Amino acid sequence: MTLWFTGLSGSGKSTLAQYLAPKLMNLGKKVEVLDGDEVRENLSKGLGFSKEDRDTNIRRIGYVANLLARNGVVAITAAISPYREVRRECRQHAQADFVEIFVQCPLEVVEERDTKGLYKKARAGIIKNFTGISDPYEDPESPEVVVDTSNESIEQSAEKILAYLRERGLVPATANASA
Ligand code: ADX
Repeated sequence: MTLWFTGLSGSGKSTLAQYLAPKLMNLGKKVEVLDGDEVRENLSKGLGFSKEDRDTNIRRIGYVANLLARNGVVAITAAISPYREVRRECRQHAQADFVEIFVQCPLEVVEERDTKGLYKKARAGIIKNFTGISDPYEDPESPEVVVDTSNESIEQSAEKILAYLRERGLVPATANASA
């Protein structure tokens, strides 16, 4: 399956992906995390943040995630993936279960966190086309799971996702995934 995280920069996608990976491994799954920042250093090196480049980046992530997922690996993607249409395209092409997880967090909160100092630069106009500030983010219309990292602990958000996966029979129902 693919666990497709989507949400603003700093919303907690990578943190949640890294937190979930060992839990899923403890449930006997093979797992690969395709993290936005890491993909941009490798697979998508040279791409920028225009709509066209973002769409290319997301299509590449979707393509690799599908190769993994159809071979029994849990592919966890953690890129902003701001555009609904290309997320839908990735879902359509998926040859295994596709679980979209909206990592919700109000702009005020991610901006306050500003873990990478990029929101400040975006507000100052030093970085152009910054998602949420000067570039769009299209909320998912029907994600399988919504987590709210401004109100939930990482454990709570992860448990919400695992509960959904158990309910769908995508991970064993009896396991508590303690790790
Ligand atoms: S996506 O839009 O193509 O899905 P991706 O997740 O790969 O984005 O990369 C987002 C990361 O790139 C952000 O977390 C941030 O660190 C960095 N970044 C640099 N410039 C921008 C920008 N203009 N908009 C959003 N993120 C940016």
